[in-house]
Amino acid sequence: MKAKDSNYCSLKRIIACLFIFMNLSYLFAFIYQPYYCPKQSFSFSVHQQDNSAISSLGPTPKKTNSNTTPNSLEKTNLSHIVFGIAASAKLWNKRKQYISLWWRPNEMRGNVWLDEHVKVEPNDNDLPPLRISSDTSKFKYKRKGGHRSAIRITRIVSETLRLGMKDVRWFVMGDDDTFFVPDNLVKVLQKYDHNSYYYIGSTSESHLQNIDFSYNMAYGGGGFAISYPLAVALEKMQDKCIQRYPGLYGSDDRIQACMAELGVPLTKEKGFHQVSFFFSKLICMKLRTSFLFVPLNFLKALKRLRRPMKMDSAGLMQQSICYDKNRNWTVSVSWGYVVQIFQGTFLARDMELPRRTFVDWHHKVDDIAFSFNTRPNSMHKCEIPFVYYISTATKSSNKNEIATEYLPYQTPLSNCEWQMSTPPQIKRVEVYKTPNPYLWDKPPRRNCCRILPGNKRGTMVIDVGECKEDEIIAL
Ligand SMILES: *[C@@H]1O[C@H](CO)[C@@H](O)[C@H](O)[C@H]1NC(C)=O
Ligand SMILES: *[C@@H]1O[C@H](CO)[C@@H](O)[C@H](O)[C@H]1NC(C)=O
Repeated sequence: MKAKDSNYCSLKRIIACLFIFMNLSYLFAFIYQPYYCPKQSFSFSVHQQDNSAISSLGPTPKKTNSNTTPNSLEKTNLSHIVFGIAASAKLWNKRKQYISLWWRPNEMRGNVWLDEHVKVEPNDNDLPPLRISSDTSKFKYKRKGGHRSAIRITRIVSETLRLGMKDVRWFVMGDDDTFFVPDNLVKVLQKYDHNSYYYIGSTSESHLQNIDFSYNMAYGGGGFAISYPLAVALEKMQDKCIQRYPGLYGSDDRIQACMAELGVPLTKEKGFHQVSFFFSKLICMKLRTSFLFVPLNFLKALKRLRRPMKMDSAGLMQQSICYDKNRNWTVSVSWGYVVQIFQGTFLARDMELPRRTFVDWHHKVDDIAFSFNTRPNSMHKCEIPFVYYISTATKSSNKNEIATEYLPYQTPLSNCEWQMSTPPQIKRVEVYKTPNPYLWDKPPRRNCCRILPGNKRGTMVIDVGECKEDEIIAL
């Protein structure tokens, strides 16, 4: 949620709410989760309302909320979350397509907050209702090179609270290019007491960006959550607080400044990914890998994730690692997204690290740029993986499994001189997995994968599921 109404790194900065293991071999991926909503009825035909009246005179929400009712004891579900999406009229036509990938109109509550009215088209009814942020011209903004829309965006939490919606436990903020995986988001929020003050999100994956901004701040591009009572406290002081920080750059650093005054630290949850780095097309091409399905455009790429997300959102992009002992290959599966086959044997601790197919916020590619470990991308030509992207996800005819199919990306190079079978003979990868909605209720552990004997030529068959108690990834 940067001041420029979020187009500063356009495509590259997706968001994500949640994957549990920060396994970046799919960090080319970072995507994430949706959820469902309430019995609340909205008028979906009125998609755009001018909110300026509401924000100045609107009812101050009653302190009681739902908190004292027996309902409060029930587990948090999608209906308890209200989203506030920061958007701008200028980019709306493009960005709304991202929102429609994860928004579930009859199950979710929230609004898109715009700076100006936009033309509403018929199928916009499946998007969150639109609102126009109230005027912020009276606020001071003194950051050179920044944009004062940061003030409008930072106030979305307070403006959303003033709408006075019922039975709200969490306000979740995001940008118009934030990709939520709602069901995973719910799982994460269920762990916290919504009656207490919580400010939940994550820092940037760019070490330098965290130095420039703060390691104590939830980066808006990755989405962040504020509990109801904390939003009440914030709303009371936010406008005055903002005036004390005219020199800050963005909206999320302004939120953090107010949190600091309230004394509420950031609760870090790895699943909120800011993704402030850039995928280097050059490096991707060289390595035959990519960020999110290189040959497709970004929107099309995200669309491919929708089916697996729907069928087993907890498993989406979760990594598992296994060995094809007969052929001496190492296989990494990021379920629902990509399978990579490496010739030779790589250790689990190396396979967990993403290769540096990306450059950081300052366009540097050295290993000190990131707030996580990476692997160099200068590999021996025989060590470059063969990459297979998701093509379909279907209910398997047997049992309750999901069958996903992955197809090769690009014609592989063939000049590796190692004397071993080469993955190019694999034209298809089939992965079977039983959906496991409880994955995130358990202590974190990677799934395991196993290469199954396959009798179809050119097809590799893999099973993915929970590891056995003492199962290890080693030869
Ligand atoms: C969400 O929880 C509320 C109780 O707070 C309950 O009434 C509602 O049915 C639940 N919704 C779903 C979709 O489970
Ligand atoms: C398997 O690959 C490794 C390189 O990763 C190599 O050292 C080893 O000799 C290979 N084993 C066989 C049986 O080919």
